[in-house]
Amino acid sequence: KAPLIITIDGPSASGKTSVARRVAERLGIPYVSSGLLYRAVALLGLREGASPEEIEAHLERHHLELRPTPKENRVYLDGEEVSAALHSLEVDRRVSAVAQRPSVRAYVNQVLRQIPPPFVVDGRDMGSVVFPQARHKFYLTAQPEVRARRRVSEREADFRTILGDILRRDAADQKQSAPAPDAVVLDTSRLGLEEVVEAVLEHLRDP
Ligand code: C5P
Repeated sequence: KAPLIITIDGPSASGKTSVARRVAERLGIPYVSSGLLYRAVALLGLREGASPEEIEAHLERHHLELRPTPKENRVYLDGEEVSAALHSLEVDRRVSAVAQRPSVRAYVNQVLRQIPPPFVVDGRDMGSVVFPQARHKFYLTAQPEVRARRRVSEREADFRTILGDILRRDAADQKQSAPAPDAVVLDTSRLGLEEVVEAVLEHLRDP
């Protein structure tokens, strides 16, 4: 049997990170958030004053590391823990443009593929591109308004600002956001976190 990799993909604020973390916790294996690596690259660009086009040159000079633990992911930039700086509005706004760069995607994918299974990983293209061999694949969706409402509680911004950002990010992320053909698609608009987690665990027991 292939080593256990479970992919959970979906658009921004679809709940994939919370679901991935809970599923991993229930299974007693690490979870990995690929978005954090893209966020760390965006942060690097902001700190260096580099445009998304210039990022590639900076990646060669800096070291990014993701340490998965069952509860959380810590991200280190040149040995400094930057996890707390990765969810600012500035990073939210910069990250999609950075993630469009093929060289950035290749870099992040190579960091991800070095992580030893078992793990649950969330992102946009984990099941379709990075881990096509994954044993279980999920794709979470939810209406944009629902996603914006969920995110308002995590950011210092109002609903309309967040909804606008989410719609822009959906459009920008579209290219790498198609579900893998063999992914189980779950619309979470009307489900709470624990209900989604149960639905995922149910599929794992009885695929
Ligand atoms: O998952 P999260 O919202 O933290 O991801 C931040 C951004 O990183 C996304 O909006 C997307 O632009 C990019 N991303 C990506 N591919 C992934 C994960 C994230 O392009 N697998």
